[in-house]
Amino acid sequence: MKLKESARLWKEALRIFPGGVNSPVRAFRSVGGNPIFIDRGKGAYVQDADGNWYLDFLSSWGPLILGHAPPSVVRATENALKKGSSFGTTTAAEVKLGDFILSQIPHLERIRFVSSGTEAVMTALRLARGVTGRAKVIKFEGCYHGHSDSLLARAGSGLLTLTGNIAESSSPGVPQEIVQNTLVLPLDDSNALEALLKQHGESIACIIIEPVPANAGLLIQRRVFIEHLLSLAKQYGILVIFDEVISGFRLGFSGYAGREKFMPDLVTYGKIIGGGLPVGAIAGKEKIMDALAPQGSIYQAGTLSGNPLAMAAGYETLKELSASKGAAYTRLTKLARHLEELFLTEITPLFTERDWAIRLVEEESLFWFSFHKPGDTTPVRRVDKIESFSARLYKHIFNAMIERGVYLAPSAYEVGFLNTAMRKRDIEHFIEALQKSIRKLPKNERTMA
Ligand SMILES: Cc1ncc(COP(=O)(O)O)c(C=O)c1O
Repeated sequence: MKLKESARLWKEALRIFPGGVNSPVRAFRSVGGNPIFIDRGKGAYVQDADGNWYLDFLSSWGPLILGHAPPSVVRATENALKKGSSFGTTTAAEVKLGDFILSQIPHLERIRFVSSGTEAVMTALRLARGVTGRAKVIKFEGCYHGHSDSLLARAGSGLLTLTGNIAESSSPGVPQEIVQNTLVLPLDDSNALEALLKQHGESIACIIIEPVPANAGLLIQRRVFIEHLLSLAKQYGILVIFDEVISGFRLGFSGYAGREKFMPDLVTYGKIIGGGLPVGAIAGKEKIMDALAPQGSIYQAGTLSGNPLAMAAGYETLKELSASKGAAYTRLTKLARHLEELFLTEITPLFTERDWAIRLVEEESLFWFSFHKPGDTTPVRRVDKIESFSARLYKHIFNAMIERGVYLAPSAYEVGFLNTAMRKRDIEHFIEALQKSIRKLPKNERTMA
């Protein structure tokens, strides 16, 4: 495979950007080799700067649920651009998208648009703290909520004893003082949550969770855990924020909360809501949302918030998802079932002569390879249960798949995304490529030794 132009661009990029990239995981550090420069996308496929095509499961990390450059979204965005790219004023485009969302999702009464998922979460935390007058927040190990300072935190050593649980900063540049109000708990552990609330319940503003954690593997939670979390929070007057930046509009139009009929106090969105352009949103009940300035006194602002191009792309995407009266989601579910069936018949049997195996973890149109010892069927619900050899094996599989024209996320801990532009034959191509990739693993990777 020729990757000459990508190699040339990478050399340039290294000179221009820290580490050659504008977001760290793009640097391919955990899968080795140089990043591939993508030039264009069409439907389920992307083409790189050397002209190679790939079946794309990265999907720009989730926004492209309709595939690349869907004609209706391109047309709407072009039309918006012709009228001007940004005005810094209120526009009909933002009213149209906001009204569309609120009219389709009954548990939401107000929404505010921002420009990224990070910004949405940052605002949701400020809102929760402002409304409750409390300072502490609880997050879960393995959930990612963007790169705002107070959430760049991992469990401190207190986690072991449940006497502190105060997080440690997970990045230089985030002083310990900034994360001292962030408490980190393991997922799937109601007892730990209950114990922590007994200690600190009265000083906690909110609990934030990805209800379908999809940033450190796909750690599907038991419904009862989320249910318990919601009821404990209510008991202590704590707000619950569902971070649906990935799951929003993906697990059905109304996301996880709508599907499971749960009522979080606030929901954060990103990715699909902007149809591939930069948008995030915070949404929830009127009495909480109206505490935001200028209606309330909790400050939040943004020069490009509600940008007309992004609103047009988001509206067109959501309209297409909703107009099909569930057909788009049915289609995604069918693709996911096809993937699951083929995986079981074509991939699972490959592991008889190896002392490791891959399981396919799926939640609607999200999937993840979970590496195991053969025969181990325990679901992985916590990040510390992910096998340590996963990254080493994934590295080989990722590179072998690239050679076969399949683009996966460049990290063992990231999920794959299906989109409505994919066909059954794309799934078959994926499985064939995976079969060959596993068979071709070097001898010394056939065992974990
Ligand atoms: C669940 C979740 N929350 C927040 C974010 C941050 O969003 P953004 O990258 O748009 O800032 C992400 C990004 O992947 C995410 O997956």
